[in-house]
Amino acid sequence: MTLHPAPPPIPAASYDWTNDEDLSSCLSNEGSQPRLVVVSNRVADLSASVQSGGLAVGLADAIRQQGGMWFGWDGKREGQTGGPMQVSEHGSVTCVGIPISPEDFTEYYAEYANGLLWPLFHYRLDLVHISTNAFEGYLRVNEAFARQLMPMLQPDDTIWIHDYHLIPLAGILRRLGCRQKIGFFLHIPFPPPELLSATPDHDALIEGLLAYDLLGFQTHTDVNNLKSYLAAHKPDAVVGQDVIRTGQKRLRVGRFPIGIDAAEFGKLARETSPEALLAKTPVETPALQRILGVDRLDYSKGLPERFKAFDELLLSHPELGKHVNFVQITPPSRGEVDAYADIRAELEQLAGAINGRFADIDWTPLQHICRPLPRDLIAPLMRHSHIGFVTPLRDGMNLVAKEYVAAQDPDDPGVLILSQFAGAAEEMQEALIVNPYDTDDMAKQLYRGLTMPLEERRARHAALLSRVTDFGAKEWAAAFLKELARSI
Ligand code: G6P
Repeated sequence: MTLHPAPPPIPAASYDWTNDEDLSSCLSNEGSQPRLVVVSNRVADLSASVQSGGLAVGLADAIRQQGGMWFGWDGKREGQTGGPMQVSEHGSVTCVGIPISPEDFTEYYAEYANGLLWPLFHYRLDLVHISTNAFEGYLRVNEAFARQLMPMLQPDDTIWIHDYHLIPLAGILRRLGCRQKIGFFLHIPFPPPELLSATPDHDALIEGLLAYDLLGFQTHTDVNNLKSYLAAHKPDAVVGQDVIRTGQKRLRVGRFPIGIDAAEFGKLARETSPEALLAKTPVETPALQRILGVDRLDYSKGLPERFKAFDELLLSHPELGKHVNFVQITPPSRGEVDAYADIRAELEQLAGAINGRFADIDWTPLQHICRPLPRDLIAPLMRHSHIGFVTPLRDGMNLVAKEYVAAQDPDDPGVLILSQFAGAAEEMQEALIVNPYDTDDMAKQLYRGLTMPLEERRARHAALLSRVTDFGAKEWAAAFLKELARSI
């Protein structure tokens, strides 16, 4: 059996943190560790069983280990920007939520972060909406974050800011007098310079990034895209392998692929028996081979192409009729942005057409479930699915791919089908790697996965599992924080 060649070990910025035995000391509250202050737009509900995306899942796993403060938007839509904060304690983590007014929220979140930055950073220029007001709203809300955070900071804090909503935050904090170390991690892809320069604000965004002490990205491609931008647009910047100098400012840059708590997820997956799962889920017969997709409802996830690939599978292999079904779980998100309503309508139409063509009284080929399900149901559902179908058109990392691997039974594992354009593909080459635009090939890979011999499934899964387990959420956070501690 031939596997894809093993990918190189995962390097971080300037050293190979996968071999670093000191990492655990970076994630402990013992001794004189500085307090960790995490800032992100959305603060995950640490007690909830349903989380809303990669950032919430990955970061919640990491911050639970270290403790500290998690600061972000309070999740409501009726507050006044600058109004009273909400503070709650979750074990060793203090969560602080700030209000944002409905008008500010529209400009900052819906129009700028998700109407411009999200499509732009996912290489979708066709969906970008440019608006000066939105950029001003984005800066205004970042200013509000900074002004409410500043008085809560202690001199020795380490500040870790997350994702595209908050790119300008370090620059504003510095202007307000903040001297603590500040790192930034981008959870989504960083686009090539030709795309980034399509927004009139590209200079300001890059200046915002250069105010940090450490910039972390998911993949080599993202790091290289930033460096290419600097080479093309900032000739005064001196760019080394992991250090950037502009004027007096020196910062570090590196790749830190985010992971999950694989042991915890694997345990969750084992806890529900197949029989109990069947009682809970709408799957008709245990003999059915299940293909499973789990994604936020987002045009970046390649869902129409995925549905079409399934349609082609059923057309080209009529013998699979009644023996296979595709369960796609797609919690709706960002309903206030037009492109999200459009993708929902397209999927409903496609799902209706596929079921209309193939369904029978005792068989629903495609189950499209448009609501969130709890993790303790998703995890066993993954374990009892023969294919994990993860085919985004572009994705920062994609933690569903890692969760699917962690959920499998190593003695009889399912097969991961993974897009070449997910950040996870850099590390997970033993998956069946597909081009998510090529629906013919995806249909072939679905068939290959459904008929793959046990020995090959085991070999692929073992290689994937060891990587997902060895470089999880804890190691990701520890590697980033260790590098931030080294920054000057
Ligand atoms: C992605 C982003 C996160 C975001 C999540 C959910 O994972 O990287 O920053 O929180 O999607 O999206 P939402 O708009 O609901 O926060």
